[in-house]
Amino acid sequence: MAQNEDNLLKKIAGHAKEYGFIFPSSEIYDGLNAAYDYGQNGVELKNNIKQYWWKAMVQMNENIVGLDSSIFMHPTTWKASGHVDAFNDPMIDNKDSKKRYRADVLIEDYLDKVEAKINKEVTKAEKRFGDAFDKAEFLKTNPNVLRNQSKIDSINERMGKGFENGDLEDIKALIEELEIACPVSGTKNWTDVRQFNLMFSTEMGSVAEDSNKIYLRPETAQGIFVNFLNVQKTGRMKIPFGIAQIGKAFRNEIIARQFIFRMREFEQMEMQFFVKPGEEMQWYENWKAKRIAWHNALGLGEKNYRFHDHVNLAHYANAAADIQFNFPMGFKELEGIHSRTDFDLKAHEEHSGKKLQFFDTVENKSYVPYVVEASIGLDRMFLAIMSSAFTEEILEDGSERTVLKIPAALAPYQVAVLPLLKKEESGLPAKAREILAELKIDFNCQYDEKDAIGKRYRRQDAIGTPYCVTVDHQTLEDNTVTIRDRDDLSQIRVSIDEVKGKLKETTSMESLLRKL
Ligand code: GAP
Repeated sequence: MAQNEDNLLKKIAGHAKEYGFIFPSSEIYDGLNAAYDYGQNGVELKNNIKQYWWKAMVQMNENIVGLDSSIFMHPTTWKASGHVDAFNDPMIDNKDSKKRYRADVLIEDYLDKVEAKINKEVTKAEKRFGDAFDKAEFLKTNPNVLRNQSKIDSINERMGKGFENGDLEDIKALIEELEIACPVSGTKNWTDVRQFNLMFSTEMGSVAEDSNKIYLRPETAQGIFVNFLNVQKTGRMKIPFGIAQIGKAFRNEIIARQFIFRMREFEQMEMQFFVKPGEEMQWYENWKAKRIAWHNALGLGEKNYRFHDHVNLAHYANAAADIQFNFPMGFKELEGIHSRTDFDLKAHEEHSGKKLQFFDTVENKSYVPYVVEASIGLDRMFLAIMSSAFTEEILEDGSERTVLKIPAALAPYQVAVLPLLKKEESGLPAKAREILAELKIDFNCQYDEKDAIGKRYRRQDAIGTPYCVTVDHQTLEDNTVTIRDRDDLSQIRVSIDEVKGKLKETTSMESLLRKL
């Protein structure tokens, strides 16, 4: 990670701590690596992200229902799902720095650099040719682009084959041939590539025998698969239909770093969509389109997202793509869309001896449905929002402010009510509380009367409150207040009766959902 990107992530982490969004876990004991606690403002933002997802995925789709399954599951679940045998990361250590890396990530970082060369070439040509520039033609004909593209393709192919065949020696050979150096020591002194299982295990009951060993779920999806028939039958669901859930997942990540990007305990929002075999590719494309629309509606900037097709497919998938986001450390996976075939349901049929099939009354036959999954990390979504919202500005009067330009509907508080004066005798606090009592029915509100008004505005900017309603002497005379806009700093004077309607226009979840 480049120095300034590293700094930006540190700044965001520092801001998140200072303003009650995210604290290191058990900080009084110096924290626990890769575990974080969401503070009073963080939990509000997190809940709003969940609500936006739940509303869009469950409540606005008549053929998708919710679920909240337990974290502990029968241990055979993980044997069937392949996680006991195949949920491994290929790791490689640098002997000099003693740092451990995921082998595929090292190669993918290398590929990103080659791709950056292509993009540079395109930008240069765009400048040179102006309006006459034909990008598609340029990509097909420019010798430098073609050379780099063919390099990318051949590395991808070799890496894909290496992982598919479990040929870790060739993966190491590839890292050596590409002369990939450790970002810390700068040397190419690598160990062999080895597989590490990522599941946490614990004992259930009091006797520490092997049969009592259970796992903390590494994905919420399996809770959905084992309940497929329960939900289908009791909900009288017809294919195609989906089951969605939000919940904790645990992975003993070898390298957990980059703040809340990669944690050992995190939260997923997952939806499994059950379809007729043979129709999975069209649903896969459909869900890719729907999910990117969900992201774009937030207004974090369409250029900050891109799709990345997987080469190294997970053990259950026949097609997979990530939605990557432009985090402070570059484009990284935010969400995965996977076509999981009938792998999971079939495996659970085999291991449980129970039929997990759907009877299709039109075709008059039963089949094991195929599954298309949309799986997003809630914490990563949180980081995407925080990092695009974090803005340091110099204002017209030369003063500086740090503002979180969080999408208004997701902000921890939609509005702060501020009496200009704190003194009870001024009549302003009482009036402000009267307004607050009315607004808090519809919005999450803050009330603040301490310090000068400018300082209070800055505090609200720092936690991303889109509007401040200020109560002043004129309010007592004509029942009007000012509404201050967080982003453009404009202030308008409106009658108290109009405040609710004005705020609702831009801060309600409805304003987001209507864009979908
Ligand atoms: N059920 C499919 C599944 O779990 P995944 O790509 O391994 O697929 C889905 O994970 C999403 O969960 C990722 O796109 C990412 O947003 C999030 N995620 C995965 N590992 C994570 C970690 N260690 N910390 C935070 N989020 C993580």
